[in-house]
Amino acid sequence: MASQPRILFTQDEIKQAIARLAAEIRLDYQDKQPLLIGILKGSFVFMADLVRQLDLPVEVDFVKLSSYGADKETSGKVKVIQGLKTPIKGKDVLVIEDIVDTGLTLSFLLDYLQKKKPASLKLCALTDKPSRRQVSVSIDYLGFTVPNKFIVGYGIDWNEKFRYLPDICIID
Ligand code: IMP
Ligand code: MG
Repeated sequence: MASQPRILFTQDEIKQAIARLAAEIRLDYQDKQPLLIGILKGSFVFMADLVRQLDLPVEVDFVKLSSYGADKETSGKVKVIQGLKTPIKGKDVLVIEDIVDTGLTLSFLLDYLQKKKPASLKLCALTDKPSRRQVSVSIDYLGFTVPNKFIVGYGIDWNEKFRYLPDICIID
């Protein structure tokens, strides 16, 4: 049984982080129309807030990857369960992820996308848990660095629970 979630980052802190990320991204993509690719399901709330702060004519798409299942540990094997609906060749692609943990998911996805020949490929992550990294991943835009704890809320789940929480919380 999971403990009561306790707040790590409040709604206000998240809002400020997103405003900062949006400003950085806007500056780098001023004359472009980037394609934002969200990784389902954890990034959906983050992506929804980010696109509304960006003030850029973005396109959006989503991929679904195999992940933790009903456990807190990654299996290490990543698969695309639901692929892109948009061709990305020649596009400025920005991947939107909730958490970079071991890095296995992202290093797989970035390789997979790179093979499709985008004009550029960058990563924006809401949170980074560097203490757990197994493969190096470079994060171009980062919201928060988090401790080695399990986090939930703001779209992020534990066994499909707690996604609805407005703050980023820790469960033990
Ligand atoms: P990685 O392949 O280990 O980097 O795993 C990344 C994915 O694992 C994230 O996109 C999350 O879906 C999930 N994950 C990793 N840490 C947490 C956590 O603290 N809470 C919820 N999901 C997590
Ligand atoms: Mg994820």
